[in-house]
Amino acid sequence: MTAIPVTIGRRMLHPAASADRGAPATAAPAVSMGAPLVDMHGRVHRDLRVSLTDRCSLRCTYCMPEQGNEWLARTSILTVDEIVRIARVAAADGITTFRLTGGEPLLRTDIVEVVRRLAAITGPDGAPVEVAMTTNGIRLPELLPALVDAGLHRLNISIDTLRRDRFHVLTRRDRLDDVRAGIAAAQASGLRPLKLNAVAMRNVNEDELVELVEFAIAHDAQMRFIEQMPLDAGHTWERSRMVTQEEILTALSARWTLTPVPGRGGAPAARWVLDGGPHAVGVIASVTAPFCGDCDRLRLTADGQLRNCLFSSTEYDLLPILRTGPSPGGEPVETGIDGMLRSCVHGKLPGHAINDPAFLQPARGMNAIGG
Ligand code: 5AD
Ligand code: SF4
Repeated sequence: MTAIPVTIGRRMLHPAASADRGAPATAAPAVSMGAPLVDMHGRVHRDLRVSLTDRCSLRCTYCMPEQGNEWLARTSILTVDEIVRIARVAAADGITTFRLTGGEPLLRTDIVEVVRRLAAITGPDGAPVEVAMTTNGIRLPELLPALVDAGLHRLNISIDTLRRDRFHVLTRRDRLDDVRAGIAAAQASGLRPLKLNAVAMRNVNEDELVELVEFAIAHDAQMRFIEQMPLDAGHTWERSRMVTQEEILTALSARWTLTPVPGRGGAPAARWVLDGGPHAVGVIASVTAPFCGDCDRLRLTADGQLRNCLFSSTEYDLLPILRTGPSPGGEPVETGIDGMLRSCVHGKLPGHAINDPAFLQPARGMNAIGG
């Protein structure tokens, strides 16, 4: 394959013309299906984040605008058959974890089927893949039993504040009680480790960090704080409003003695044990302490675009391969998917450049990329 089709916004471009300056325009090496997905910097890819929809029941200010969001066209959203087809090839190529995201993944009416079919996939060694989900929790009370039965392994639930008025302002919806009910349902389920995520924000929830950790401990969950990233669809991110990892640790140190946990591997969160254990807290410092060197993640958007980084402007479009099918005598669809996975991995840059003044925010908001 010489010309790798990529889209920026909705235009088809050659990668050499893409905003990912430095992305090699050379063809990815022809490696047969089943070989691990190793990039030019030696990183082996094990984790595929699958966004199932860009829709959401909340409107978090750091993610979506209140109104006027341009939704993905319904006809471009991958069907469960298409997702499974991609996932099978990815698993054959060494992907071991599928993380379902959104928007809000529980808004997919076929979510239980998606989980059931993905959880049935095995890797080349015959071991089943892991299926995890990042959700706002709102539909968990009604759906969790079916999801566990379908084979869901792990849950991350987002909760940025425990105050109803703040939650309402931050998410533009008065649904804190629903999120709490979702967390209670997750606690009652056997799914562990259970993780709660909060984006730390100046003058919004920075005075609640200790309370959030205590809330997580009370629900047998682990709290993780995320530095706010420039990914809001409204493009309103300001560095000064971002609470840094250092500030988060300072705030928590007033209550606990923090001891760093070694051996983070490819995990985005660095962890600290509280008062010698057993509880711990995680911080995802994407901006001030990027972990790109160990990144093992790829992303699939709800409309079939592969991305090698949250912050990339290059997308690798699987829709034509999936929907046009092979030309007579052409390569099978699976070979095409495998080739696109390899091109995507091959084009991955060593790191993002949020700290670079020339950093360009990706055109899509977080809800359309997948968290
Ligand atoms: N910065 C950091 N985290 C974000 N999330 C969404 N938008 C941003 C952003 N701009 C997080 C949510 C959730 C996950 C899906 O992504 O809080 O935990
Ligand atoms: Fe929905 Fe998550 Fe975006 Fe909030 S951050 S609006 S919960 S997709």
